[in-house]
Amino acid sequence: MDKKQAKKRVEVLRDLLEKANKAYYQDAHPFISDKEFDDYLAELEQLENQYNLATPDSPTQRVGGEPSSDFETVTHPVRLLSLDNTYNEDELNDFDRRVRELLGHKNYSYMAELKFDGAAIRLRYEDGDLVLGATRGDGERGDDITRNVKTIKDIPLHLKNGYPDVAEIRGEAYIERDAFLRLNEHRQQQGLNAFANPRNSTAGSLKMQDPREVARRPIRFFSFDLMTDNETPITQYKKMELLQEYGLRVCKHYKKCEDIAEVHNQIDQWKELRHNLPYETDGVVIKVNEDKYRDQLGSTSKAPRWAIAYKFEAEQATTAVKNIRLQVGRLGKITPVADFQAVELAGTTVKHASLHNEDEIHRKDIRIGDRVVIEKAGEIIPQVVSVVNPDRENREPPFKMPGHCPACGEELTKLGEDIDWRCINPECPPQIRQRIEHFASRDALDIEGLGEAVVDQLVSEGLISTYADLYELEKEELLPLERMAEKSAQNLLDAIESSKEQPLDRVIYALGIRFVGKTVARDLANGFQTMDALMDADEETLGEIDSIGPKIAESVVTFFEQEHNRQMVKTLREHGLTFRMEEQKQSSQKLKGKKLVLTGSLPSFTRKEATELIEKHGGKRTSSVSGNTDYLLKGDSPGSKYDKARELGIEIIEEDDFLKLIDKKQ
Ligand code: IVH
Repeated sequence: MDKKQAKKRVEVLRDLLEKANKAYYQDAHPFISDKEFDDYLAELEQLENQYNLATPDSPTQRVGGEPSSDFETVTHPVRLLSLDNTYNEDELNDFDRRVRELLGHKNYSYMAELKFDGAAIRLRYEDGDLVLGATRGDGERGDDITRNVKTIKDIPLHLKNGYPDVAEIRGEAYIERDAFLRLNEHRQQQGLNAFANPRNSTAGSLKMQDPREVARRPIRFFSFDLMTDNETPITQYKKMELLQEYGLRVCKHYKKCEDIAEVHNQIDQWKELRHNLPYETDGVVIKVNEDKYRDQLGSTSKAPRWAIAYKFEAEQATTAVKNIRLQVGRLGKITPVADFQAVELAGTTVKHASLHNEDEIHRKDIRIGDRVVIEKAGEIIPQVVSVVNPDRENREPPFKMPGHCPACGEELTKLGEDIDWRCINPECPPQIRQRIEHFASRDALDIEGLGEAVVDQLVSEGLISTYADLYELEKEELLPLERMAEKSAQNLLDAIESSKEQPLDRVIYALGIRFVGKTVARDLANGFQTMDALMDADEETLGEIDSIGPKIAESVVTFFEQEHNRQMVKTLREHGLTFRMEEQKQSSQKLKGKKLVLTGSLPSFTRKEATELIEKHGGKRTSSVSGNTDYLLKGDSPGSKYDKARELGIEIIEEDDFLKLIDKKQ
């Protein structure tokens, strides 16, 4: 390939990856697999390096790096203040009066903007390049989360159109309502706790250690403030225009208001319309428009005197608790749920709400028959706020958690310090059903036609009780089921048959091990290469894989310690599942079976590139030195891993030796 051809290919790949990203993040409708995405990205990276074609806005610059153990603290040059809040019209008029009195005239105007309910972020661009992304922290100092911020597609890596030498930009990262619900659904499928609201999920996502994981979260960003090295005061309105010119995303619902009456109009309008927006807004921010007046007004230690947030009251309703029932999750978690008399709240009919756990019910003292105030947390998920008139007479007795599973009668248990009760009976019917549904789901073995309704019938007719039983189904057994004709039965059997060829990572995910989601399953498959090796791994070996912490390692070991799970894997194999590895693009097997640990920085490779090279040649990069380590690859300023390797007598090599090993150099 010559440079011209490479350039063409680079363009094709960039276009494809951008589209794939959009499909994945914005439309939630991916058209290529994660694996294909990674492969194209690797190809692009390789071409960019070889032909010197890297640009700051290339998709290769978005997802990078490996997990770092902690964030550096950064001191903000200008404090990130918070805003004073008000909940009523009178206080807003007071604010306006104060501004007028302090300035001594009425020549100022306002900007009314939506207040987004997410996490504040500060960005710094130098010569147009994004050099820093930081959290607000305590306003004076925040965390350097640049690597994570770079994965957010709404944040350009490079500014456009006459940008200033230095630009400090502020804005809000957030997650849209639908994406939030999907994220929670996904978490629950994986046996993780759901996020309470979009704000928590955004803040949590931005603080994850692994930028590759952050890149998978549907985080969006609105900018609303700009500071440059240009001293000339401008207006908020102009800043919003400039931000857009530079390529940043701003929320278009901003409005210049000539006086406070116009501001009130804006607020009234958004009180209703906000429910139609795809994201959460908890109020309107009112800002004096002109910088020159802002400077005159100044700030208190906490908040500027030139701005105020008008917060919407969360919409509430009251209703009666008809019943408190227990729901059994796929992994046996018991969640108490309140059933209500149906009531309208912020645009939907609410019939039930999760009460989360026993402690929460007691904290709020919710009892059957009570009238309760409900609201939507982050305007989405209904929650019980409090009991109306808890001192009334003749209340039902306090809620008592039944000691047994409502579905199968098994005694409930608590694991370690968990606040949740669990049913640990592997034969518990709702758990069986959900396990089979998970096994057949799109990201697992992808068995089309095996949705909730069919699984329900198969289990209740006694045709299957484990996912392994699927492979013994016969057409005659399927035909009597509802809505099952000759053709659909055959299609289902064909889909079950072809699922036998699904690769190892999907099978690992399908097994339904607690905390093992798609990504972890893929890392496990890559790390161990065979199901047998994974089944026999101990916590230490598991922990050598970068993304596997002690919690996941323990969960995997516990899963495979249970005889019925080992037996299940054996049965799947007997039924013809291949557990095959997806073909890897390996250039050689020169490092086959070898484990390498990296320490310090290598002269010509990033850690990511070195890892890729190791994997490409059949080796494995592990994060800590142990007796199983084959080589320690040492760069400049090595850390404690170097001492440990010397202590254990591990062979220590430098970049040159490494290149010789993989035959890149003679
Ligand atoms: S202006 C000095 N505008 O609200 C005040 N803030 O309570 C600068 N927020 O941490 C903030 N939407 O993250 C401003 N349109 C908006 C906003 C907004 C949300 C957040 C911001 C800040 C918090 C203050």
